Amino acid sequence: MNFYEGLNKLKPHRVLVKFIKNNPEIKTAIDLGCGAGRDTKFLIKNGVNVTAIDRVDVTKFLNEGLEEEEKARLNFVQAQFDDAVLPNADLVVAYESLPFCKKDALVELVSKIKEALNTNGYFLCNFFGKHDSWDENEKVTCLDKDEIEELLKDFKILELNEIEKDGETAMHQTKHWHVYWVIAQKQ
Ligand SMILES: C[S@@+](CC[C@H](N)C(=O)[O-])C[C@H]1O[C@@H](n2cnc3c(N)ncnc32)[C@H](O)[C@@H]1O
Repeated sequence: MNFYEGLNKLKPHRVLVKFIKNNPEIKTAIDLGCGAGRDTKFLIKNGVNVTAIDRVDVTKFLNEGLEEEEKARLNFVQAQFDDAVLPNADLVVAYESLPFCKKDALVELVSKIKEALNTNGYFLCNFFGKHDSWDENEKVTCLDKDEIEELLKDFKILELNEIEKDGETAMHQTKHWHVYWVIAQKQ
């Protein structure tokens, strides 16, 4: 099983499912680092038009299980976050993808996200904390709560929940997860 086949077996993030249930007015979204598309496909199946962005060509996974009428709501863009042009949207989702950006690039990206969001638009994302097993990996940026609040200082932070637990990766490797789950809103 490769990484994307592993991701493809995962359900959409529960926090997103709850958010969409409570915010049915969301019509357009961007999924940054969509992977195999668990969140993209959930949004599409709930009537949202999604621009899904990933540096890897994940078209095969995104199309899997979508009806023709649903595929019309999908716009996949293969790009690095640095280069991607973000369309205007009601919602930006970025789960398990921002930690793979360097801190400077994150500052630029967050500013680009704010620019793209419609007034009162939402930004749902997560960050790894300093106790995460991957903090030792130089390719992963782990942040503390203060750093996240500083990064999102131009947003209204509606929720910032810290969760620590032992668990597994999509490839079934054991790992300690230290994750901050954020719901922020463009002011
Ligand atoms: C761990 S996966 C998470 C995928 C998906 N969000 C999910 O939760 O299932 C991270 C994804 O982000 C993408 N990614 C990471 N850094 C990126 C970058 N700088 N530009 C574009 N895509 C990136 C990777 O290619 C990968 O598909």
